[in-house]
Amino acid sequence: MTDLTVYIAHPDYLGALCQELGDVSSVAGNLVFSTQEKRDICFASDIWFRAQIVKFESISEAVRILRAAGKYWFLNPVESIRRSHLIAEQLRKLPNLKQSFPISTPLPQIGCFSLLDKNTLVYAQERWKDPPLGDFQFIEDKENPPNRAYLKLWEALALYGCYPAQGETAIDLGASPGGWTYVMQSLGVNVTAVDKAPLEPRIAQLPNVTFLKQSAFALNPANLKTAVDWLLCDVACYPERSYHLIMAWLNSGKAKRMIVTIKLQGATNLEVIGRFKAIPGARVIHLLQNKHEVTLLL
Ligand SMILES: C[S@@+](CC[C@H](N)C(=O)[O-])C[C@H]1O[C@@H](n2cnc3c(N)ncnc32)[C@H](O)[C@@H]1O
Repeated sequence: MTDLTVYIAHPDYLGALCQELGDVSSVAGNLVFSTQEKRDICFASDIWFRAQIVKFESISEAVRILRAAGKYWFLNPVESIRRSHLIAEQLRKLPNLKQSFPISTPLPQIGCFSLLDKNTLVYAQERWKDPPLGDFQFIEDKENPPNRAYLKLWEALALYGCYPAQGETAIDLGASPGGWTYVMQSLGVNVTAVDKAPLEPRIAQLPNVTFLKQSAFALNPANLKTAVDWLLCDVACYPERSYHLIMAWLNSGKAKRMIVTIKLQGATNLEVIGRFKAIPGARVIHLLQNKHEVTLLL
């Protein structure tokens, strides 16, 4: 039996994850094994801590091992797929993974397992994110938001550790057509949306939404009279510009919390991401809802 950390890779970012980790023992499917436990890994969709690798002979033996180690198990199929499913079928039925936003009842602890071959099981009960593989399965709102960007902010807020409170304030830079503005407004936040392009009219008309049609970079935070509770930024721009914008807000002390997407250009550049990771208190994560971009939580 060994004790390892397993990092879950998004299929498009396996190379970036391995490069970011540096110390990789082996790779199997979406599982990246390392002897190093690192928690600030941007390209890990989830992390399995203290993972166990054990040999087993029969399906019933694998079931016994898993049942003894935890209540709920999610199968991440890698090898011996049919055998993996036969094991999963004999385990306790998983709770419903669909969640409404904001999440009021966290999921129970759910372990994850894979077969590495027909006689080798890897499993972990202790993981980073609540949902298996870090895959938040929100009950979607198909009526109110103007686009699917709201899911990105839902995921970011679920990982942030606290939700905006009624009556708080937010500035949403690069807000149009208004998915993020809609999310904050729906939580009772007073939102100032800033964009060069217009908000969708039905979002602009919502109570507690103010729209400023201007560049996000023309807004000097130092000129604000009071700090905002939340600074959101989803502006389509080069990472360098995002970095300067974040630093200007940080130095002004006018944003209590920040959620900023950093749009990546071409090949994934870990040096660029490293600059954002080095900002004290920042967490940089490739969200499941992120395409070629990462999200900074501060
Ligand atoms: C990905 S979209 C934002 C989507 C938005 N978060 C939502 O939930 O609907 C990027 C936005 O950045 C805006 N943008 C680009 N450059 C900008 C600038 N200099 N100032 C303000 N907004 C800008 C674009 O007009 C576009 O609306």
